[in-house]
Amino acid sequence: MKYYKIITYGCQMNEHESEKLSGILENLGYNLTGSDELADVIVFNTCCIRENAEQRAYGNIGALKRLKKANKNKIIAVGGCMPQQKDKAEILRDKFPFIDIIFGTHNLADFERLLKQRLEKGKKFIEISNDEYSIKECSFVKRSTYPSAYVNVMYGCNNFCSYCIVPYVRGRERSRNPEDILAEVKTLVESGYKEINLLGQNVDSYGKDLNPKVEFSTLLSRVAEIDGKFRIRFISNHPKDINENVAKTIKKYDKICNSIHFPVQSGSTKILGLMNRKYTREEYLEKIDMLRRIVPDIKITTDIMVGFPMELEDDFNDTLSLVEKVEFDGAFTFVYSPRSGTKAYSMDGHIDEKIKKERIVKLVDLQNSINRKIASKYLGKTLEILVDEFNLEQQIYIGRDEGGKVVHFNSDKNVVGEFVSIRITKASGISLYGEIV
Ligand code: SAH
Ligand code: SF4
Ligand code: F3S
Repeated sequence: MKYYKIITYGCQMNEHESEKLSGILENLGYNLTGSDELADVIVFNTCCIRENAEQRAYGNIGALKRLKKANKNKIIAVGGCMPQQKDKAEILRDKFPFIDIIFGTHNLADFERLLKQRLEKGKKFIEISNDEYSIKECSFVKRSTYPSAYVNVMYGCNNFCSYCIVPYVRGRERSRNPEDILAEVKTLVESGYKEINLLGQNVDSYGKDLNPKVEFSTLLSRVAEIDGKFRIRFISNHPKDINENVAKTIKKYDKICNSIHFPVQSGSTKILGLMNRKYTREEYLEKIDMLRRIVPDIKITTDIMVGFPMELEDDFNDTLSLVEKVEFDGAFTFVYSPRSGTKAYSMDGHIDEKIKKERIVKLVDLQNSINRKIASKYLGKTLEILVDEFNLEQQIYIGRDEGGKVVHFNSDKNVVGEFVSIRITKASGISLYGEIV
């Protein structure tokens, strides 16, 4: 038996690409293992969105030196966003000479060839393509997120938010053909998947590059018209591009979750300008009003960053007041991390680490109190839950409602992958517990 292991960092886009790499490896006869010792091939699918993502990868790759020494035939491959950065592949090669294959985001579909060349010719390979329009279709995807499944609607990003490395490592926006997306969703639903998660860095600019153009809301409604009981989610929306048609489509179809991830980044118009987000605080709040007017029970989550260059106390307070005003159903909070090659990297006014820390603590405290308040409102409610997994450690089933709220409960029979009705009996912090009704 031949074995492989994949270590994934970063976003859902990357998780999905690891599923594509798994597909390639399984087609070649490799079996998945969690063991570094057993694995004949170890792939690191890396992220570089923040410094700490890179540090983690460095640490984990470095830890394999010993294993590689003990077994020279073990293949170690490093791919994804990190080596796609300027000069990073060479830095990785110099730092870790034992790496066998280094490949970029545009070389995902080349991985099979690279692995075969390594095995047959014994040479080490660095392959970083700069084809910013590459489309990485893979013939077989080994999915790992049942009952949920990722489907790319587009690749790349054109927005160049001034802090963000993604446009540099993922290339330009390119939309997949709607017919390909619909066919993939149909196959997934027919084979038992209950949740389709449409992926794009900015789904609201889906289809602008197609001929004829296709609106994201049109794609959404066509996905929702596919037969079968399943949920539709999508990430991420961009406040500058979302329009009423998206909200109306969410409202119109039961299958589309009344839920949206709507990154704000900052509550200060000044900082939003420096970030090149192309909307003001007021415009963001107007879009929130629009979403809540058209879809009254919509759950809204967000991403927020603190400590961007030039963020003064007043700007940070604008972020806090926006968070209080909107009462997000959840927020991913980040400390700004300078990324070499981005515009913000060379801006004036970088913020002291100590102040950044103080701000993130304040922001997290505020959002936690909102989370608790929102969680307590669920007490006594009955929710339709899609069951994701049985957690062996806690001996409990875990699922989510359409708003994405995580719910824990017991069941006598295996209900993974099923929709069940759960009445919420306990809200502890942000965790909800309930029982089947
Ligand atoms: N395309 C998506 C997500 C991009 S990455 C979107 O635009 O919403 C996810 C989040 O990471 C971003 O929303 C942002 O909040 C955060 N992020 C991106 N670059 C960062 C940086 N340099 N430092 C800290 N956080 C960052
Ligand atoms: Fe990065 Fe902005 Fe593109 Fe999101 S929209 S990936 S934050 S550049
Ligand atoms: Fe995702 Fe990280 Fe790349 S967030 S797009 S894996 S830099």
